[in-house]
Amino acid sequence: MSVNTESPSSLDADAVVVGYHSGGDAPEPASGAHDVDTAFSGGLAQTLSLLGASGTPEEVHTLASLGAVKAPVVVAVGLGPAPAEGPVDSDILSRAAGAALRSLASRPEGAGRVVLALPADTAAEAGAVALGAQLGLYGFDRYRTGDREKAPATLVVASSAADAGDAVERAAVLAEAVTLTRDLVNTAPADLVPEDLASAAQEIAQQAGLRIEVLDERALSEGGYGGLTGVGQGSANPPRLVRLAHTHPEATKTVAFVGKGITFDSGGLSLKPAGSMDWMKSDMAGAASVLAAMRAIATLGLKVNAVGYLAVAENMPSGTAQRPSDVLTIYGGRTVEVLNTDAEGRLVMADALVRAQEDAPDLVVDIATLTGAQLVALGTRVFAVMSNDDEVRGEIVSAAGEAGEASWPMPLPEELRAGLDSSVADIANVAGERWGGMLSAGVFLKEFIEDGVKWAHLDIAGPSFNQGGPHGYTPKGGTGAGTRTLVRIAEEYAR
Ligand code: BES
Ligand code: MN
Ligand code: ZN
Repeated sequence: MSVNTESPSSLDADAVVVGYHSGGDAPEPASGAHDVDTAFSGGLAQTLSLLGASGTPEEVHTLASLGAVKAPVVVAVGLGPAPAEGPVDSDILSRAAGAALRSLASRPEGAGRVVLALPADTAAEAGAVALGAQLGLYGFDRYRTGDREKAPATLVVASSAADAGDAVERAAVLAEAVTLTRDLVNTAPADLVPEDLASAAQEIAQQAGLRIEVLDERALSEGGYGGLTGVGQGSANPPRLVRLAHTHPEATKTVAFVGKGITFDSGGLSLKPAGSMDWMKSDMAGAASVLAAMRAIATLGLKVNAVGYLAVAENMPSGTAQRPSDVLTIYGGRTVEVLNTDAEGRLVMADALVRAQEDAPDLVVDIATLTGAQLVALGTRVFAVMSNDDEVRGEIVSAAGEAGEASWPMPLPEELRAGLDSSVADIANVAGERWGGMLSAGVFLKEFIEDGVKWAHLDIAGPSFNQGGPHGYTPKGGTGAGTRTLVRIAEEYAR
């Protein structure tokens, strides 16, 4: 990925991507498209009009340039209405770039060398274009056979904005982080058992210069991590707790991230029906996004101390599995009655949350594919943000927005705590009634946060895995949701 200030029509490339806006009688070429439009003798709008282009975001039209510009192909992508003033919305730009690159990457020869002549008058726009383009190129071919190797694509962002180079470099780090999360989520669960996820973390920590500590099943039972041990005991693949640390000598703040890493969630003895189980390889998406964000934080050298915990286990039914009505002891001593073994995420998260508070963080953020109820509440593209502090919740929702991710604030109603009362232990892992299932999971986690510790909980159950068709820069399967938000939070705490 690079930045070029020359005119896009003169650059040697396999394709040039331009944008156009909706509104008016005809589509309106966007900023960045004028050079190509001139090469088309001012006929770009009319050409798009003839093709029925309207300019809605992500609409893609591919044109043969027939020698008018140096690249043989021009890809025009819709950007919605032109902003009355100022830059084009970052997320619209990223989605448009993603849609264009997805379309180019689906060609048999792949995308090749692509010049992005989308609006990039500011560094932020250039970064948004670069991010979306790289994310749109994503493909997961680990399990495909045959010689479908495509030549790696090259992206050139056409921009003369000051600092465009820095913005594009940061975008590349973010895109690599999201790519890592997606790859880990898409990996078959047999190839990513807890030990494998811990090894992946080891390797990444070494490359990125992160400190790492891995607790294996012995260390976990000796240390009193009853949540991880209880959930993991039904599996032939024992659990792990991974701690990653990035430190900066000038840091004034510490943030702790905690990710749910259930490498496969069968439900345990409270077995899931088949139709809800086939995507449960994605139940480690929170842990993957923590690992990926920690790598990005280290690569960017952020002036913050960041610790990342991955709570990793496989939830399986077997003769050694925990039983509904078993009682386990979370790290730190509190007891939980396990009434439903499918509410396993909160058990492993409780262990890791208690442990994370030993780092005396200024903020704890956990991220988890925690509840099906999250999908009922917010659908498949918007994740939920809960917190024990109204201001923190607002900060996280804003950080997500700045990162280009959709989220929504959700409450932790106090009255839901009574539903988690257990007749034998300190708390039960599920509520008696099913209403507000996402919130009662959040209320459960809140029990394990000390008074005075600022904490936010992101439920990414829906947005982490795309079961529908691809859109914008989002592929089918693992999406990487939450990863950029975590990096953005670290950036805020680095200031
Ligand atoms: N991993 C699931 C939540 C989930 C569901 C994630 C769908 C992504 C898509 C979680 O462990 C779970 O099974 N939660 C239960 C909790 C219930 C038993 C209280 C659920 O939501 O059904
Ligand atoms: Mn479950
Ligand atoms: Zn789960």
